[in-house]
Amino acid sequence: MTTAGAGASRPRASGLRQTVTEPAIRLRGVSRRFGALQALRDVSLDVLPGERRAVLGPNGAGKTTLFNTICGDFPPTAGSIVLFGADITRLRPHQRTRLGIGRTYQTSLLFNGLTVLENLFVAVRGSRPNRFSFRRPGRGDAATAKSRELAERMRLSHLLDAQVLNLSHGQRRQLEIGMAMAGDPRVLMLDEPAAGLSPGDRPELLRLLHELPRTLTLILIEHDMDIALPAADIVTVMKDGEVVVEAPPDRIEDDPVVQSIYLGGGH
Ligand SMILES: Nc1ncnc2c1ncn2[C@@H]1O[C@H](COP(=O)(O)OP(=O)(O)O)[C@@H](O)[C@H]1O
Ligand SMILES: [Mg+2]
Repeated sequence: MTTAGAGASRPRASGLRQTVTEPAIRLRGVSRRFGALQALRDVSLDVLPGERRAVLGPNGAGKTTLFNTICGDFPPTAGSIVLFGADITRLRPHQRTRLGIGRTYQTSLLFNGLTVLENLFVAVRGSRPNRFSFRRPGRGDAATAKSRELAERMRLSHLLDAQVLNLSHGQRRQLEIGMAMAGDPRVLMLDEPAAGLSPGDRPELLRLLHELPRTLTLILIEHDMDIALPAADIVTVMKDGEVVVEAPPDRIEDDPVVQSIYLGGGH
């Protein structure tokens, strides 16, 4: 192998040491077919540790499918996915979760009849609530303490005992992110966290994203450039299952390809 391995430093001729950073996520030639439909086509992507990456693109571009191949819900039909140097292409979703991938879904998976604390507790314990065996949060247990900590980080401490069905849309989104954080992911993938939020809820979401630990690698699918651009270090734009642009946020709005997608009726 000629490339340097995990976080390795190697001496250069000058005597300086060059640090070779291994990507948090590395995709090589990832494709996904659904029957005759090619939802992802030969996607290669490196996301570095601690990077905030936004994924933009019109409906049907393959953004959610990209997440599904990374988290294992719909593994790639070709190509490879490497997480911090470990090939995870063939692993089951729960194995990928254990290795540090957390995500939210475009459609909410919250338990409406449970409280905020109970939802977080379920996520922390990594189990589903069962009518007969659901252990509820108790005082002094570690999972409850962790659930409270997550609520605080997501600015939901004042709503611990509120039933999820009584939360605002924005609060539900915050809770979903908290639940995705429950397994202490190294890579957090958020699928359109701002979708359906009122303009008033958006700054709160942005603040929350900015407050996430900088060590966390964040991949964010987002339609709205007003959220995506300020939240991102690098933006990937997809169309028809392919990556068509990869650029820093300040170069996105003026990019001719992006303009043709967003202004040309492709959105
Ligand atoms: N589970 C699936 N079965 C069949 N087709 C799918 C499935 N998931 C996604 N697709 C198709 O793949 C394409 C990309 O979808 P998706 O990744 O959801 O796009 P985006 O998230 O960018 O809107 C679409 O044509 C969609 O209909
Ligand atoms: Mg989608």
